[in-house]
Amino acid sequence: MSSGPNLFRRDYSAHKLDEGDLTLNPLDLFKNWFSKAAESGETDVNAMTLSTASKDGLPFSRIVLFKGLNESETGFVFFTNFNSRKGKQLMENPWAALNFYWPIPERQINIRGKVEKVKNEISDEYFRTRPRQSQISAWASQQSEVIESRELLEEKFSEIEKKFTGMDVPRPNNWGGFSIEPDFIEFWQGRVGRLHDRFLYSRNKDNGWKIERLSP
Ligand SMILES: Cc1cc2nc3c(=O)[nH]c(=O)nc-3n(C[C@H](O)[C@H](O)[C@H](O)COP(=O)(O)O)c2cc1C
Repeated sequence: MSSGPNLFRRDYSAHKLDEGDLTLNPLDLFKNWFSKAAESGETDVNAMTLSTASKDGLPFSRIVLFKGLNESETGFVFFTNFNSRKGKQLMENPWAALNFYWPIPERQINIRGKVEKVKNEISDEYFRTRPRQSQISAWASQQSEVIESRELLEEKFSEIEKKFTGMDVPRPNNWGGFSIEPDFIEFWQGRVGRLHDRFLYSRNKDNGWKIERLSP
């Protein structure tokens, strides 16, 4: 069959996930899966879908890049423009969800948690490591705002490039990192015949984690 609802059907058989593979802290399992995904040759292994919602509950999703765990290894960090759509939504509703999907190892991780800004020093430190063009773009782009034309964007870029000639580009105040501190992490391993393995970690009151197997 060359078309139709089964055109893209495939079975998942690369791995399994059972009780013996689970770590007490889900961040350890995350680190393990992340490095395995990178080793598998997956491209954009650090691309994750970030979902936010306005205070009236209207959701929106987009890809951002996972830049590592925070200092205490409890939160997932990404960088963005604080005045963007996502930035504004996170200011009025600090709950967010993340999704990683890695087709080669046939794995998905779903995360939900509360978001906080990372310390300015952390944002400064990361901003300094960015390519100069990206640093200038952070100044030139009023992310998520309507802009009249491509030409205008490029003019703004050139103006800022000129302004910072011969000096380091400082981090704009409206650009920096957020960290999502999960209260809920679910690991999904694709299996044959749609009998997938799913394990949900939920945070206890005493800051430990409860682990439950979920039906696929
Ligand atoms: C592979 C990929 C990586 C991206 N990484 C980031 C990122 O790290 N930070 C960011 O602000 N936007 C990133 N974007 C752009 C966002 O998806 C989005 O278009 C932008 O942040 C504006 O979103 P918003 O209007 O909902 O705030 C990335 C897009 C793609 C496709």
